[in-house]
Amino acid sequence: MGIFYEEGKRIFYLTTKQTLYQMVVEEKGYLLHTYYGERADGEDFSYLITRYDRGFSGNPNSAEGDRTFSLDALPQEFPSLGAADYRTTGLELTNGDGSFAFEGIYEGHKIYSGAYKPEGMPGLKPEKDEDVQSLEITLKDVASGVKLILCYTVFEEKDVIMRAARLQNDSHETITVTKLSSVSLDFLESGYDLIHFDGRHAMEREMHREPLGFGARQFGSVRGTSSHQSNPFFILCQRGADEDRGDCYGFSLIYSGNFQFTAEKDQYDQTRVTMGIHPYQFSWQLRSGESFATPAVALAFSSEGLTGLSHLYHDLYRRNLSSSPFLKKRRPVLINSWEAAYFDLDHDSLVKMAKEALPMGVNLFVLDDGWFGRRDNDDKALGDWEVNTKKLPKGLSGLAEEINALGMEFGLWVEPEMVSEDSELYRAHPDWCLSVPGRKGARGRFQMVLDLSRKEVQDFILDVMDRLLADANITYIKWDMNRSLTDVYSRARGKEEQGTVFHRYVCGLYRILEELTGKWPQVLFEGCSGGGGRFDAGMLAYHPQIWCSDNTDAINRLKIQYGTSFGYPISAMGAHVSVCPNHQTGRVVPLKTRGITAMSGTFGYELDPTKLTEEEKKECGELTRKFDCYYDLIFYGDYYRLTNPYEEGEGFMAWEFADKEKKEALVSIVITDKEPNDAQRYLRLKGLKRDAKYRVEGLDLIVSGQALLKAGIPVPRELHEYDSVQFHLTEQ
Ligand code: GLA
Repeated sequence: MGIFYEEGKRIFYLTTKQTLYQMVVEEKGYLLHTYYGERADGEDFSYLITRYDRGFSGNPNSAEGDRTFSLDALPQEFPSLGAADYRTTGLELTNGDGSFAFEGIYEGHKIYSGAYKPEGMPGLKPEKDEDVQSLEITLKDVASGVKLILCYTVFEEKDVIMRAARLQNDSHETITVTKLSSVSLDFLESGYDLIHFDGRHAMEREMHREPLGFGARQFGSVRGTSSHQSNPFFILCQRGADEDRGDCYGFSLIYSGNFQFTAEKDQYDQTRVTMGIHPYQFSWQLRSGESFATPAVALAFSSEGLTGLSHLYHDLYRRNLSSSPFLKKRRPVLINSWEAAYFDLDHDSLVKMAKEALPMGVNLFVLDDGWFGRRDNDDKALGDWEVNTKKLPKGLSGLAEEINALGMEFGLWVEPEMVSEDSELYRAHPDWCLSVPGRKGARGRFQMVLDLSRKEVQDFILDVMDRLLADANITYIKWDMNRSLTDVYSRARGKEEQGTVFHRYVCGLYRILEELTGKWPQVLFEGCSGGGGRFDAGMLAYHPQIWCSDNTDAINRLKIQYGTSFGYPISAMGAHVSVCPNHQTGRVVPLKTRGITAMSGTFGYELDPTKLTEEEKKECGELTRKFDCYYDLIFYGDYYRLTNPYEEGEGFMAWEFADKEKKEALVSIVITDKEPNDAQRYLRLKGLKRDAKYRVEGLDLIVSGQALLKAGIPVPRELHEYDSVQFHLTEQ
């Protein structure tokens, strides 16, 4: 298990509980990738690589007379550049002499215990008492001296390998890196499907699956954030793979900025995947002796279908990504003021809302946008983080005290990365935002983006946050970010450094969040970017939960949360019950269904409780009690997708939580489309023991696991469109 190097054959074996990852250094020193998949102990997979003379696939000089050795066809661990490999490359650079070549030849390696730490960025870390091993392999371009270091940390128990890369300029001249992927992975065959999660504001992470055809399929973001439009999580799976069966590979980039994912099927029916920082406006000069490190990718393989793969990521991100105590500590049930009040708020009405929310089981009151400066709408005041005493005469501390006196905690919304043109901050420091001299920059929601690549700007934000957190008893922060980046130019840097600004922005943000969350461990941070525009593993390292979407319509949320669940745990998905007609879609959905949907997430409320009827408030109280009672199942159990909303026909969506021992489960069903006199549908359950008996509460049934797994339960026919039901199962 772990990492083993077989000296004689120069083979690297990276073994986890269920998988093997293998590379071999061939005679000339090229590092070839031989295998990644189900575990096969002691096997040398280099026999799979066949060589033959292939037309127009050139040969490196070191191959001498051997026309069968071509990097254009061989599976490489990380492709060289300019060495007759015409497929997607993970590395682009310009050497000191203007040439573009890098021919990576094995120089050496080291194996050590502990995890690799990507410089200035989050990475995976071992849990307490978890042993992990790391490997760094150095490939050297002999002509220039430039080195590429490939980094691997093997999380045996988690069946995950973290990969990253570092470029070290050991040449005597300055070089310019214009692309460096975190990962490149070659497969000897094709026949894969690619699953990606794309969307738009208020409709994020819609799942799309397609057969991977010839050519390169490329995805990514150039918005400065991971974005609503694409997500840095991808799955490559066998064509026939489904939720329960088939080989699936997951690629999850632990990074919150521009990214690029490419999957290419080449002329010989082979597949190459690369993933890392997007090369768009990326250019990084390295003087002699300097290095550049990429963010990390969490790479996982499961032969147990998409569910098996999702479970690996759920467990990993619940345990190995963040140091937040809130991964183990119970999260609050919150009520958020945004859809209740928007910008129209005052002390008394907020306290009244909190009071009314008490019997609903809420224990955290969150004050959203509108509390500071002259923030009466979204065109001003970002940057002026002083409380508006007209709205809140007792200040944040006075408001927090009154909320606390009710027995509730107090939380606050901030958007510290931004500045409004109409703000004191902008008037004082116009050069603190990203903008190109001599050009009028593009606006997004009337706001400009602060230049987080600058240390003084990072320090300003840290100061603001420290002051706010010290001023009032705040135990929750919603950290928002409401526009895509444009005019990415830093006034503090010379022209040769402008190509570093996108990445430095993200690193600046990480520095702020690292310091802030370290200093205020009692504060729960929830990430947000116009809803789910920055829902990625990088942010999850600091924010144990992220607001999934600005769309709170329960029926749309079913799809959004479904897509999100492939790569991220349910405990990470911010989900609230809001009012009907829904503010985004106008749809009317029963309160129970809104509750059940929000229970497939962190659960909370986004409404004005003073406008609810007594009956509705009582029902909310019951929903919260249910959530409280199923909390452990939802936050720590295994999650199963029982239906696929992108398949025709069934008219309902269902999912299930089961505890790790398979003693208890919670099944939720929502009717999404109803026709009269329709067929009886059955729902097969998952995650149960075949030979155990289960009581199905709600159906008044005791039945074997085998029956529930194989035949399922009838979906209740009396449910109308948008109705829902939950069944709780306990082993007898
Ligand atoms: C973003 C968030 C919302 C809300 C508003 C406030 O759109 O996603 O939840 O906080 O900003 O302006």
